[in-house]
Amino acid sequence: MCGIVGYIGKKKACPILLAGLNRLEYRGYDSAGISTVEKNGLSLIKDKGRVNHLASITGIDELEGTIGIAHTRWATHGKPSKENAHPHQNKTKTFSVVHNGIIENYHELRTLLEENGYSFVSQTDTEVIPNLIDYYYHKDPKQDELKFLRAVRNSCLDLKGSFAIEVISSDYPDNMIVVRKDSPLVIGSTEEENYISSDIPAILSYTRNFYLLEDFEFAVLSRTSAKFYTSDLVEINKKTQTIEWNATAAEKDGFEDFMLKEIYEQPNAVRETIGSRISLTGNCELSELHFSKLDLEKIQKIYIVACGTAMHAGIAGKNAIEKLCHITAEVDIASEFRYRDPLLDENTLCVFISQSGETADTIAALKLAKSKGAKTIAISNVIGSSITREADYSIYTHAGPEIAVASTKAYTSQVVLITILAIYFAEILGRCESSLLSELKSDLLALPKKIEETLKQNETIQEFARKIYQEKDVFFLGRGIDESVAKEGSLKLKEISYIHSESYAAGELKHGPIALIENGITVIGIMTDPRLVEKTISNIQEVVTRGAKTFIVTNQKINSNQFDRVIFIPDTNAFISPILSIIPLQLLSYYISKEKGLDVDKPRNLAKSVTVE
Ligand code: AGP
Repeated sequence: MCGIVGYIGKKKACPILLAGLNRLEYRGYDSAGISTVEKNGLSLIKDKGRVNHLASITGIDELEGTIGIAHTRWATHGKPSKENAHPHQNKTKTFSVVHNGIIENYHELRTLLEENGYSFVSQTDTEVIPNLIDYYYHKDPKQDELKFLRAVRNSCLDLKGSFAIEVISSDYPDNMIVVRKDSPLVIGSTEEENYISSDIPAILSYTRNFYLLEDFEFAVLSRTSAKFYTSDLVEINKKTQTIEWNATAAEKDGFEDFMLKEIYEQPNAVRETIGSRISLTGNCELSELHFSKLDLEKIQKIYIVACGTAMHAGIAGKNAIEKLCHITAEVDIASEFRYRDPLLDENTLCVFISQSGETADTIAALKLAKSKGAKTIAISNVIGSSITREADYSIYTHAGPEIAVASTKAYTSQVVLITILAIYFAEILGRCESSLLSELKSDLLALPKKIEETLKQNETIQEFARKIYQEKDVFFLGRGIDESVAKEGSLKLKEISYIHSESYAAGELKHGPIALIENGITVIGIMTDPRLVEKTISNIQEVVTRGAKTFIVTNQKINSNQFDRVIFIPDTNAFISPILSIIPLQLLSYYISKEKGLDVDKPRNLAKSVTVE
């Protein structure tokens, strides 16, 4: 959702900026633009459409500047158009600005600026920013080295909402200022250059040393330095953090699409997420957490809060928490949780899950929980992301960068990590038989191999995809933990194949949805719980009788003749079965999308990281 790139160094900025925008394409966008500092002032080239189109605009090849900013816009205020695309400039074109986020009070600021003689050419909220900067710049009588910074700072203090901003100026051809509040932005640094981006993978090929900005920290960048200031303009010392991901982790590496690569990376993502946290000989180690037995005994309720796939991972993990820790756990959608006035106090623990760590609703839900005194844990895949900075404790999945919009390896790694969290709590609390925990640990350790085995079913899955890719409606059914997988399977299919799909608890079928079952419709059943398999089979029989085509994912010994296609997956502990049973459904969605000739990695209307409400 909107992408920002910046470069300040010795090389020509334009090719670096375009390459960065290309790498951010997965975030979702409808227009793109670039501004560089040239000998004769600031360049500005932008239009609606893809980055390829931007790269083909006349004049872009002639940009020589070694400082520049670039942006992919996902329209919020004003339709996708050349005027509304970023960068935006003040009237005299001395400042260029790109912005991610939403300026909630832009209307009032625009009116104020108009009263002061400013005029606007776009419908965006962003255009107030370069004009505000211009306003404060000219109002400031001082002529010292902080003048540019003061103008940016004063403008930001007026802004309500969320923002990640890059500013360049024709009056300061050797500097760039960046700042963020509730919107992601990182600075990758080498001795001779600074790279700026909305996320790490886009600039990982240049450096692994990153500065992570806190809210309202201002960075004044030159080619060889990065100075940081608080909002009071007090200079602060900041150290870079080394990011362990390597550059090929953010490349397709021979795979046709990022999604396929990420599906196949799951054995390793799970292996890395388990790391040394689990061993068969000792207690589970989550060194980032510091909970005593007394702390945990006080917890009366655990909320797991997230959006989309991360929320589905929460549903899959809730069982382990309840059963192993004997604490009631509830899963909430972050956008609902933040407005439903949940009952929270110091005896509540809230676990927030977010691959990106930048999802606006999840961050807001976390802030709400903290304000009510609840203890908070963030589970994220991105070091230093917003939720990890906000939460009391953070634990990381080590899935590596996930580029495809449709989340796959992040989901399986999240389910692994919540299960590890449940084991960690259970061992401290001592409310659960240790043999159960040992068994679960050894099943977790065996997972990567079993994922590899499951992935080998790809051809059968592809063949079924060819059979059903023209469907209009698909139903996903499961009971217990399999229902959580049905939800995730259905979301995956919707996202990348645009086929309408619904997921139901199989027992609910007779209470309404069976009315929709007619000859030829596809029903996908997940059956991994031995206690419930017979019941789910009966439900699926009911749809078979009504002419449905059936695709079953199971680890149970069932008679496969009764269904169109059965994918047998390895057996595992019931708590972690979603990690295996989701894989055929990820592959099925992928192959259906390919059969339909769609853009698997960048599905329409979707953004990888939903940084606005
Ligand atoms: C997953 O396939 C989706 N694209 C989406 O539901 C995603 O999981 C959701 O937006 C949450 O993102 P997060 O994990 O980065 O917070």
